[in-house]
Amino acid sequence: MSGMQRSADSQPPPHRSVLYHQIILALRPQSQRRYVDATLGAGGHAAGILEASSPDGQLLGIDLDPQALDLASRRLAEYSNRTTFVQASFTSLAEQLARVGWKEVSGIVIDLGVSSMQFDTPERGFSFQADGPLDMRFGPQQAISAEELVNSLPEAELADLIWRYGEDRLSRRIARSILQARPLRTTRELADAVAHAYGGKKERIHPATRTFQALRIAVNQELQALESVLPQAIAALSPAGRLAVISFHSLEDRMVKHYFRRESRDCICPPEQPVCTCGHKASITEVTRHPIQAGDDEIAENPRSRSAKLRVAEKLDLA
Ligand SMILES: C[S@@+](CC[C@H](N)C(=O)[O-])C[C@H]1O[C@@H](n2cnc3c(N)ncnc32)[C@H](O)[C@@H]1O
Repeated sequence: MSGMQRSADSQPPPHRSVLYHQIILALRPQSQRRYVDATLGAGGHAAGILEASSPDGQLLGIDLDPQALDLASRRLAEYSNRTTFVQASFTSLAEQLARVGWKEVSGIVIDLGVSSMQFDTPERGFSFQADGPLDMRFGPQQAISAEELVNSLPEAELADLIWRYGEDRLSRRIARSILQARPLRTTRELADAVAHAYGGKKERIHPATRTFQALRIAVNQELQALESVLPQAIAALSPAGRLAVISFHSLEDRMVKHYFRRESRDCICPPEQPVCTCGHKASITEVTRHPIQAGDDEIAENPRSRSAKLRVAEKLDLA
């Protein structure tokens, strides 16, 4: 990552956030500046941003999950005069910024997906490792739970969803097995239905991994949410402000990559067109041409970081 300086020697928080140091290096937090953590979670990245922007950098923390906000606000209590927390989707980023009266911010972090806290709470239904209700909603706002999806979708749509978001080559067989096992009420029942489709084949990962991921993405409309927040985030940045996005799914990373690439070009006409007619103007520069990934040490400590990809963009001075 070129041009980045270490702006803080802060220690990582007790539960290490994915790519913690890389996020702090990317955002270069400074005092008197404003930052947004759009996926507050347990507040790990937020703690780093607040510490590095001492004594008076401000942070708006957003999360859909009331439990995450509760945890983060207790953890970040020492910074309470510099923080505002909102239970909302980051798809309402522009609205949330307007509510706090912030026109521009110097940095935004979006760390997508499920938190360890959510994953490790059986009642949330994200994990097949323990039995729990088939919920998988990040927050109470979401209308539809995983239980409603698995028990109501037609077989072909279920197969399509498992294929698209889970990239599971046995998607059709899994959908058939789920239909035969309906109604499904618990994570264990779903995991068993998926395992049945695999018929005892030895796999590198648990056979239900991809189906659970696919359902979670569908329940929370994660790709639609990402598509909606990217332009809002870029629009909210001050000149030289930075947006850092950590994704865990190839579809998400592709979306971020294409968006950054497109917005860093002055013309987006098809290459075969000799004269530009689009009038598009670049609004950002890509700080990371290739995504930043976790090193071996971090992966050994936190296996979830293996699939994390960080991309960073910097707002141009458009004046
Ligand atoms: C990977 S965790 C973030 C962890 C956090 N960066 C930390 O350091 O502790 C992702 C968080 O994003 C939240 N989330 C997911 N989609 C969201 C959305 N559309 N709007 C707001 N929060 C969302 C989840 O509830 C979860 O708490």
